[in-house]
Amino acid sequence: MKESIERIFKELAELKAASQAEAEQARVRFLGKKGEITALMEQFRSVAPELKREYGQKLNELKKAAQQRIDELKNSAAEAVVAAAPKEDLSMPGDAIPQGSRHPVSIVRQEIVDIFRKFGYDVAEGPEIEDDYHVFEALNFPPNHPAREMQDTFFVSTGHPNPLLLRTHTSSVQVRTMESQDLPIRVICPGRVFRNEAISARAHCIFHQVEGLYIDKDVTFADLKQAILLFAREMFGPDTQIRMRPSYFPFTEPSAEVDVSCNICKGKGCNICKGTGWLEIMGCGMVDPNVLKASGIDPSKYSGFAFGMGVERIAMLKWQVNDLRHYFENDMRFLGEFATATEV
Ligand code: DAH
Repeated sequence: MKESIERIFKELAELKAASQAEAEQARVRFLGKKGEITALMEQFRSVAPELKREYGQKLNELKKAAQQRIDELKNSAAEAVVAAAPKEDLSMPGDAIPQGSRHPVSIVRQEIVDIFRKFGYDVAEGPEIEDDYHVFEALNFPPNHPAREMQDTFFVSTGHPNPLLLRTHTSSVQVRTMESQDLPIRVICPGRVFRNEAISARAHCIFHQVEGLYIDKDVTFADLKQAILLFAREMFGPDTQIRMRPSYFPFTEPSAEVDVSCNICKGKGCNICKGTGWLEIMGCGMVDPNVLKASGIDPSKYSGFAFGMGVERIAMLKWQVNDLRHYFENDMRFLGEFATATEV
């Protein structure tokens, strides 16, 4: 028995396993039910009592050593498998990072600005939190004009003669420009405006406008019409026609509403233009002498025209979007539709 124990010790020291399966085979051979060490354990029962202590110790050491050696072999075989596995494929393409695109309202606002810049207009800006004077009073709104009422205007402060409010139109920038710039003036004023309105497919409490103002000597209604016609053709295509309908704004006299010929049905009548062949795009007119006077401009020497349009409205017409709310909900599926339109 002694020789067997020593032989197995030696064999264990030299034992090799190329794989986990081979290490398992070695375990079966030594420690399995019919294994060599198991067999020695059985023989141990018939060992003479005076040798039991010595052999018992040796056998236990052998069993432990065998267990340890086989575990070692199994571990190193497992490590070899990992080491032999193919490394990460560095040539594999990465996950695509979705690319953002400009918001459709920004795209259209920029397009409007670019068109008027070509005509020689500068861009002017003003504050979104304005006062009553610049939004209403200097623009010739009579004291009890309905636009000043609570249901239209978000007031920031009340209770004094010139309350702060969120501007309801970018026409306020006209006033600030007339106050601060030398004549002649030729500006467009893009910006955000706010109205206390119920949100629907056609109205929102926040939207964007572009205001235009041209003041010089001898500016006439014909100049206004020409500027708008040129703009409409740049924006909606060279065949676009415009028509002007008499209207009323406190800050212009005469005032008009501008329609463009429907570029979808080419004037035949469709559901976008509600069968009329025309689409309303802006308000305009000759700057009222009272407005010029309020900002220190002499109406006997100077005249001017002004116009104002909603950016979302133009964007809806351009892309035939039938619900204004899409522009504010930031649904990526909607916004993504304009990605290719952006890449110019
Ligand atoms: N401020 C008007 C609005 O918000 C739009 C407008 C109409 C602006 C006529 C003008 C204009 O400058 O002449 O509805």
